[in-house]
Amino acid sequence: MSHGHSHDGAPCHGHDHEGAGGSQRSQQDVAALVEQLRLAGVDISQLPNVPSAPRDMDEARTKSYQFWSTQPVPQMNEMVPADVNCAIEEAIPMDKVRAEPFSLPAGFRWSNVDLNDADQLLELYNLLTKNYVEDDDSMFRFDYSAEFLKWALQVPGHRAEWHCGVRADSNNRLLAFIGAVPQTVRVYNKTVDMVEINFLCVHKNLRSRRVAPVLIREITRRVNITGIFQAAFTAGIVIPKPVSVCRYYHRSLNPRKLIDVRFSHLSSKMTMARTIRLYKLPDEPATRNLREMTAGDVPQVYKLLTKSLEQYKLAPVYNSEEELAHALVPRKNVVYSYVAENHNGKITDMISFYSLPSTVMGSAAHKAIYAAYLYYYVAGSVSVKQLINDSLILANKEKFDVFNALDLMHNDEIFSDLKFGKGDGNLQYYLYNWKCADMKPSEIGLVLQ
Ligand SMILES: CC(C)(COP(=O)(O)OP(=O)(O)OC[C@H]1O[C@@H](n2cnc3c(N)ncnc32)[C@H](O)[C@@H]1OP(=O)(O)O)[C@@H](O)C(=O)NCCC(=O)NCCS
Repeated sequence: MSHGHSHDGAPCHGHDHEGAGGSQRSQQDVAALVEQLRLAGVDISQLPNVPSAPRDMDEARTKSYQFWSTQPVPQMNEMVPADVNCAIEEAIPMDKVRAEPFSLPAGFRWSNVDLNDADQLLELYNLLTKNYVEDDDSMFRFDYSAEFLKWALQVPGHRAEWHCGVRADSNNRLLAFIGAVPQTVRVYNKTVDMVEINFLCVHKNLRSRRVAPVLIREITRRVNITGIFQAAFTAGIVIPKPVSVCRYYHRSLNPRKLIDVRFSHLSSKMTMARTIRLYKLPDEPATRNLREMTAGDVPQVYKLLTKSLEQYKLAPVYNSEEELAHALVPRKNVVYSYVAENHNGKITDMISFYSLPSTVMGSAAHKAIYAAYLYYYVAGSVSVKQLINDSLILANKEKFDVFNALDLMHNDEIFSDLKFGKGDGNLQYYLYNWKCADMKPSEIGLVLQ
């Protein structure tokens, strides 16, 4: 997420910078560089984020996947025909699912993280804030707040054993985590009870020891035990095999700060004053009747959004108003939602974004970038362009520095008019144990946090 920074990003959910005209480093370049450093006697394990995983489809096709080749996912070079839309492996009868947890390396043990316990929530926050997704240059790292983690992981129907932690026996420290939440998802014409997987994280000191595959196997087992056999997730890396490859776009709200922290750069021929003017927004939304969503709006928003999501090939299905209320009723510093209500009391439009700051590593002046991420919206009485521009205005009022959006839904149509810049890392969408034809970003209606 940035404007004009010229490095590759490695997002789980869009931790990239705006591309400044194509400095995509290939895996080969990185491999050659690593070899040179090794010959020069540099300990590469001490270097920040040397990418070991492919970032684009071409690199991925040449790689062999020790773990993912054992999993029920399509092969990297498999072209799934349009009429195929089904599970890869049959559901296993519940009493046949492995009952014992997978083995961790000696000295570590499984431990559910109880997010209702303030100390454990803080432990998870600390693990992630120090060890979660960074860009390749170690300039920015996601800083999901503790309230956000509760929101994202304690959805209706959440389960304690799906907040799956790993602790060191010696000092009890939380060193790894993987989360799953229940979510019904429609894929083309099939509606499937799945989980969304998120917050996979292994402490930096425990990396490259094949702990991630154990976490993935163990959460799969814990999900299978409940009779669920599919999952949806996103990642900045390419593994077999994305259902869609999306891209983040970034809209500067506070260009001076973004340039200061090198999230963006001042483009040639532009002065700071002109840049600030370029990104200046009105004080109030153009949609006069736009207001904050309340719990009382849930029944109408439920109908409006449910109908709107039908146009996409991959979309969440909210099984109850309670599920939708959890996703969208505003929570300060977590999720912001607005509705437009006409004079008959009918809700015609809605828009939402969530708050995901990033820590700025190594800047004296600024500790964090406050980023808003576009979430769900329905443009009923106004254009998508006006509605998203209004959300820029609202995010700006809330003092966000940047507004990020993927090129899914109808977003691509408005990026250039609303002064979004293209990011330089992709975000891949994945389905586990499901085989279907690839989707264009504009066919995706599912937003993961
Ligand atoms: C992602 C992370 C947990 C992987 O752990 P690791 O110690 O680097 O990797 P391990 O040696 O344990 O395992 C490597 C295997 O995990 C897979 N893997 C790595 N990251 C993955 C991801 N995000 N999703 C799915 N699989 C992943 C690799 O492809 C590899 O499998 P392969 O041999 O089939 O290619 C760790 O690097 C981390 O915490 N990174 C920061 C947070 C992050 O990026 N989380 C993922 C967000 S989508």
